[in-house]
Amino acid sequence: MVRRERDRTADELRADFVVVGAGVAGLTAAVCAAEAGLRVVVLNKGPTWRPDRAEQSTATHYAQGGIAVVEPANREDSVDLHVADTVAAGAGLTDPSATRPILADGWSAVSALIGWGAEFDRRPDGALARTREGGHSVRRIIHAGGDATGAQVQRTLGRRLASAAAYLDLTCVDDSSATAILRADGHTVGVAFRTRGHDRLVHAPTVLLATGGSGHLYAATTNPVGATADGIALALRAGAVVADMEFIQFHPTMLYVPGARGRRTLISEAVRGEGGRLVDADGRTVTDGVHPMGDLAPRDVVANAIEARLATTGAPCVYLDVRTIADFRSRFPTVTAGVADAGLDVETGLIPVVPGAHYQCGGVLTDVDGRTAVPGLLAAGEVARTGLHGGNRLASNSLLEGLVMGRRAAAVAVSRRDRRVVDASGASIAELPALSREGLQDNMSGAVALRRGADGLQRVASRLQSAGRRPMVTDVDVEDAALTLTARVVVAAAQARAESRGCHARTDHPRTDPDARSRCFGWIDGDITECDRADALIATEALVS
Ligand code: SIN
Repeated sequence: MVRRERDRTADELRADFVVVGAGVAGLTAAVCAAEAGLRVVVLNKGPTWRPDRAEQSTATHYAQGGIAVVEPANREDSVDLHVADTVAAGAGLTDPSATRPILADGWSAVSALIGWGAEFDRRPDGALARTREGGHSVRRIIHAGGDATGAQVQRTLGRRLASAAAYLDLTCVDDSSATAILRADGHTVGVAFRTRGHDRLVHAPTVLLATGGSGHLYAATTNPVGATADGIALALRAGAVVADMEFIQFHPTMLYVPGARGRRTLISEAVRGEGGRLVDADGRTVTDGVHPMGDLAPRDVVANAIEARLATTGAPCVYLDVRTIADFRSRFPTVTAGVADAGLDVETGLIPVVPGAHYQCGGVLTDVDGRTAVPGLLAAGEVARTGLHGGNRLASNSLLEGLVMGRRAAAVAVSRRDRRVVDASGASIAELPALSREGLQDNMSGAVALRRGADGLQRVASRLQSAGRRPMVTDVDVEDAALTLTARVVVAAAQARAESRGCHARTDHPRTDPDARSRCFGWIDGDITECDRADALIATEALVS
């Protein structure tokens, strides 16, 4: 039984380690740190986790395809090959100091998850079943429940959290949103948060942001409702630096439902890995001649090919032709259910799809152990920019990164356990600039989606800059402020990058510069300001202590 907030009603809590977020990175970190003897508090934005809820609050739950990992027994694969595929997808911006160590740690992180009870699909001979997704040169994606891999990961971690909390000092505070990172003398000393409208504090020397992504910057996304860029805003306001924020990955195949907003069903890339083909309304292939890997090219390539076909035909969607996939319903039960929920039937063999906002490739700049530029503040999972994804994440590398970086963040927290914490007070937020949710999403979807041009970017930048200040009364106010600040940094980064690369396609700058470099931004003197990466990381404790 996880100790929940009703067991601890104090307005001020104390811990050795606070984890903001309850997806793969957060729960992995929380369990590992508690097992190492730390007092851990998890701030869970969603309600008390139950596997049977119709809507879940973490992106982890909704991950379908699987976990990309090199299994030592797989003679066709190697960490070198996985690194090469990741670098090829990343469009020149993967960071070699992060890519190899994270991928090389993958198998031990997955083995630990299996040790905690995760059940992956297996072949009749008992070996792990593996599929392929875009950009992978071999079948290396392990999966669970057909296309319910994330749900299996979330369930395993949820259960492990519950059993660990029965005998360790691990508290999960549900329905709680972080509102500010507390600092004293530049060091992290805790988190201000809100539980169902009630302002509270938790004091701790180490805080991990594991808040997920920012899909709700856009009108339609594969992300759950809470993916509102909270961690980016918290980090920027605390003085951390973000990088590669212009690279928002659009998944090529989000279910097309006319006029729909909010979370939409993902149609896993594994559907193409098992033989599904992208065709237009006339049955013509969409990606022929675009890339040697065809429908299994990296995501940016496939999404742009779809966008180009929609522009030439004027059609609202293309189709995934799944008629050649045997036993589609049992291999892809999550997709089948999502399609049925939209009133469609996979039996027709043609699933209508469009590209949809899916993953934030950039994020809070960290080193390979999750340290940000603010001592004591860590980031892991989608909110973080380790350098693994570069300008376009390789499919199914994200659950792997969450597992690996969650463990690494826990190790950092353990190494900091004896730091003295100066109590910081208050940090309640009064008013912040915030656009209306729909207005912001329409602006971002119209001019800062798959393709961007200088005029549209400038229009959205002006709109964002003119956002009025709003009292931060409700959780929605706090989310809207986070989305507004994050949109500003996405737009600033997109304006600064006058080239096309990875997920960032500029209609006015279609060429790719020979010189590839990441761009970093901070929130300095009340404005989004570009800063030097070396200066940004110089502040990490690893380098200063
Ligand atoms: C998918 O199943 O296509 C999603 C996997 C991912 O985003 O990594």
